[in-house]
Amino acid sequence: MTYWFTQPQLKALVPLAGASAIRGLSTPFSVPKIFMGANALSEAGGLGASVVDSLAAMCVKKQAFIVSDEHVGRYATRVASVLEGHQFTTRIWGRAEPEAPLENVRDCAEAMKQFEPDAIVAVGGGSVIDTAKAAWILYERPDITDLAMVSPILPLGLRQKAVLVAVPTTSGTGSDCTAISVVTDTQARRKIPIVSAELMPDFSVLVPAFVTGMPPKLTAGTGLDALTHAVDCVMSPMTNDFTDALALRAIQMVFKYLPRAYRDGTDLEARIRMHMAASMAGIAFGNGGVGLTHSLGHSLGKTFAVHHGVAVGIFIPYALQFYSPITDKYLDICTALEVKGKSTGKSLAGLIEKVRTLLAELDVPLSLEGLGISREDFEKNIDKLTLHGSEDPSVFQSPRPVTMEQCQRLFRCAYEGKDVDF
Ligand SMILES: [Fe+2]
Repeated sequence: MTYWFTQPQLKALVPLAGASAIRGLSTPFSVPKIFMGANALSEAGGLGASVVDSLAAMCVKKQAFIVSDEHVGRYATRVASVLEGHQFTTRIWGRAEPEAPLENVRDCAEAMKQFEPDAIVAVGGGSVIDTAKAAWILYERPDITDLAMVSPILPLGLRQKAVLVAVPTTSGTGSDCTAISVVTDTQARRKIPIVSAELMPDFSVLVPAFVTGMPPKLTAGTGLDALTHAVDCVMSPMTNDFTDALALRAIQMVFKYLPRAYRDGTDLEARIRMHMAASMAGIAFGNGGVGLTHSLGHSLGKTFAVHHGVAVGIFIPYALQFYSPITDKYLDICTALEVKGKSTGKSLAGLIEKVRTLLAELDVPLSLEGLGISREDFEKNIDKLTLHGSEDPSVFQSPRPVTMEQCQRLFRCAYEGKDVDF
């Protein structure tokens, strides 16, 4: 299969378009309309129209297609009943699969075409929202048959048929607030990020009651994903003061509330704060980018079936060390977390120690070996890991370009838990 991000012209163009000097001339900042809080989905609303009123005003047919999965059907049913109370006809498609495999996305799009909705409502974690986004492209543009070639510069012309609402049931992916859908080419065991400004949901609805049931392991993994988005965004060359403000605040919130939510899932304050932090980090990285944690993590995750949040979170210390010879932007994170050092090197060491302490609190290992990957399996897959890690489009936003050789050395450091000193 051919991918948009391996095309030589786009590999040259996208990093250039994302460079701060170019973006500074005209930098867009995109967000959905966000409704959050215990009443976010209710008819009561607050000041101004409720999310359902706002949605109804945009939908003439009032046909809502709800994308969900087998784990969160109860939340999809609740969303359907609220919509039906506002004269919507609904259909729940509850067959979204983890990691949004392309075949599953096509199934979803087929069901969408039969129902002909003017509202698509994704109720679920990142894979559900990403499935809805990718299927939405196929629904609106039946002429597009190859999602792997949908590049950031291809105009899609979405919203001729439907608008998109995202109701996340995990706190981490940020997909409710990004213009990105990550789907999976199952045959190649490879992630395909689809990036288009048009994929930004029209509404994000943050309902705390929808995340209180997350088990501890999922809470840790998704929470780490949010932290990784925020840390990488601060370090990205595409960052700006808007994204920094959100990312740095999200980092503070994750350090404060993720261990609490992990230890006690009924801690409502921690749940609410983590839910908001995930969307804040989503807005930040959706506008400012993520870097090596995600290129290496995507490669690792697909090769060894590691949860996305863990696969990217484990690389935070290694990526920060790799970036450090050419940028001291990590000092902003040190300031946000009150990590002090007598030199920049000591501050970085203190920050990395703080990240490692958080990983340990969440029972996440500090090395790939600690994930249970045998040396033999690692060596057997190192060339594939390196190729996919260095080709992933997230490398476009790395503050320090990475060669194939460096990419392999990064994987080797992460496998053994060694500091990156090159
Ligand atoms: Fe992520």
